[in-house]
Amino acid sequence: MADFKHKEIEQLLVRALQAISNSNTILELEDTRVKFIGKNGELTLKQKTIGTLPATERPQFGEEVNKARNAFDSAFQEKTAQLQQQELEAKLNASTVDVTLPGRGMPLGTLHPVTKTRLRLEQIFKSAGFIVASGPEIEDDYHNFEALNIPAHHPARAMQDTFYFADGKLLRTHTSPVQIRVMQSKGAKPPFRLIAPGRVYRCDSDITHTPMFHQIEGLVVDDTTTIANLKATLQNLLQVFFEQPVNIRLRSSYFPFTEPSAEVDMECTACKGSGCRICSNTGWLEILGCGMVHPKVLENCGIDSEKYTGWAFGMGIDRLAMLRYGIPDLRMMFENDLRFLAQF
Ligand code: FA5
Ligand code: MG
Repeated sequence: MADFKHKEIEQLLVRALQAISNSNTILELEDTRVKFIGKNGELTLKQKTIGTLPATERPQFGEEVNKARNAFDSAFQEKTAQLQQQELEAKLNASTVDVTLPGRGMPLGTLHPVTKTRLRLEQIFKSAGFIVASGPEIEDDYHNFEALNIPAHHPARAMQDTFYFADGKLLRTHTSPVQIRVMQSKGAKPPFRLIAPGRVYRCDSDITHTPMFHQIEGLVVDDTTTIANLKATLQNLLQVFFEQPVNIRLRSSYFPFTEPSAEVDMECTACKGSGCRICSNTGWLEILGCGMVHPKVLENCGIDSEKYTGWAFGMGIDRLAMLRYGIPDLRMMFENDLRFLAQF
């Protein structure tokens, strides 16, 4: 091999190693790498000339270049490790940790006001001997309407318009179908004393109505129970719930699955009955529907309506939350605004 070529590689290597050793940061080292072994690096270009040499010179020159490349690589790696270590140490020295500072803490979420209200109601009912039952939110026509004495084309269906699936199933419009599911469940027989809280759906939206809301169904079936027990239970329960005397009134109403039927209004807690936006200036807010279980419903569930009587109610949990916390618009509950939710 021509001597000058040998010299050239030797000098190139000397310069390269010098450049590595002169690199003071990872960035500078990277520049050095590109300069010598990058795509158009000096050493790379030398490597590329190997193929153009006469066959007699190729092996020796190739070996020289490879040696230089290996020497470069190992010097480069060593320097990289050294600089990384240095930069890490510099970083650690620059930042001080005061281990005596208090921790930052993770902000905790809170229960939704509707959840708090539901749990509170469950607690109160359980303490009065009720069990908690549940049913599906996607219901069939039979449980949501038919078995509750609401046949197809009954006008009561119009008041509970809902969301239907192609297979005829629907989002339940109230928790009353759970009455049927429990009374028809295998081996079940009176007495019954249960509540069934859950989500329900309707085509509704204004300050006291949302398309998704929550109800608690109540059902008592026994051989002695009367409408007086229904009224006393509701009055007591609401008093415990609101932790103060409450005014309620039973307003005669109609449900196909109860007879007689009533709606219970509570004196508006926002205006103390004098009339405001929440209660549409009536001083009262409807919180539930109720009545004596219709004999047909009992018979649909195989219960002797001569022997047993029952009462039931369906209460709006969101309405109770609204009254308890003084929330001016029911829709705020489901806007997911943290400024609102963090207050509970
Ligand atoms: C019913 O849903 C009956 N199933 C109640 C019932 C059960 C009667 C058992 C007899 C026996 P109603 O449609 O009135 O009734 O609704 C009951 C309560 O749910 C209302 O009093 C109200 O508090 C609440 N409510 C109704 N619609 C909405 C809505 N869109 N948004 C929020 N709350 C609502
Ligand atoms: Mg109603």
